Amino acid sequence: MTAQLNARGDVAVLVPAAGSGVRLGPGAPKALRLLAGEPLLVHAVRRVAAAPSVRMIVVAAPAAEVDAVRALLEPVAPVVVVAGGAERQDSVAAMLAAVPAGVEIVLVHDAARALTPPELFESVAAAVRGGQPAVIPVLPVVDTIKEVGPGEVVLGTVDRSVLRSVQTPQGFRHDVLAAAHRAGLDSHTDDAGMVEKSGTPVTCVPGSDLALKITRPLDLVIAEALLRVA
Ligand code: C5P
Repeated sequence: MTAQLNARGDVAVLVPAAGSGVRLGPGAPKALRLLAGEPLLVHAVRRVAAAPSVRMIVVAAPAAEVDAVRALLEPVAPVVVVAGGAERQDSVAAMLAAVPAGVEIVLVHDAARALTPPELFESVAAAVRGGQPAVIPVLPVVDTIKEVGPGEVVLGTVDRSVLRSVQTPQGFRHDVLAAAHRAGLDSHTDDAGMVEKSGTPVTCVPGSDLALKITRPLDLVIAEALLRVA
């Protein structure tokens, strides 16, 4: 439990990868899908480890895959691998339990955002360090957004100027994220959503085009092209 990067860093980065779909080997979905011959989780952890403020990285793996994920990441960076829980939120709680009290900033990342540049971890952490209790990286919404009803009939056009597309890493003061977990608020896929429900203000910083979520086959093509130029 002492896997450390920069001993003077004040940030722990949590990477949940314990979904039931996660398994090693060919055809692996989500965090272990291959991009340019390496699992997304490996690309993601390499970039997290390159962020100077990061003291430790914690990954949640399915209980049966903890040793395999540890072996996979061993050559990439010092990483603490814990067994995840039944829901994503349980996996985040298990990772949070591995973070010492002295680490003041906790970032929750998504392995599918495998090309997220180290600078984005730094800018989210800097906003938390600067006094914001919860910080999310966002991009403006570029498409026109319609609300539709039954039969795909358009009900109205949403004012996109007030909308933001949310990425990760999402950053929190350690005590704020821990308190939201203790309160047992639902978060589903978004950790900031849980903190919002606790009444804590969540603020936005500019996201990055490189932090795209690699989910569809086209995203893999885009990500491979980005790897060649970024
Ligand atoms: O299933 P879903 O796409 O919502 O999962 C989002 C992320 O949370 C994935 O990286 C998945 O591996 C992780 N997860 C987890 N523990 C669970 C369920 C999902 O770490 N019990």
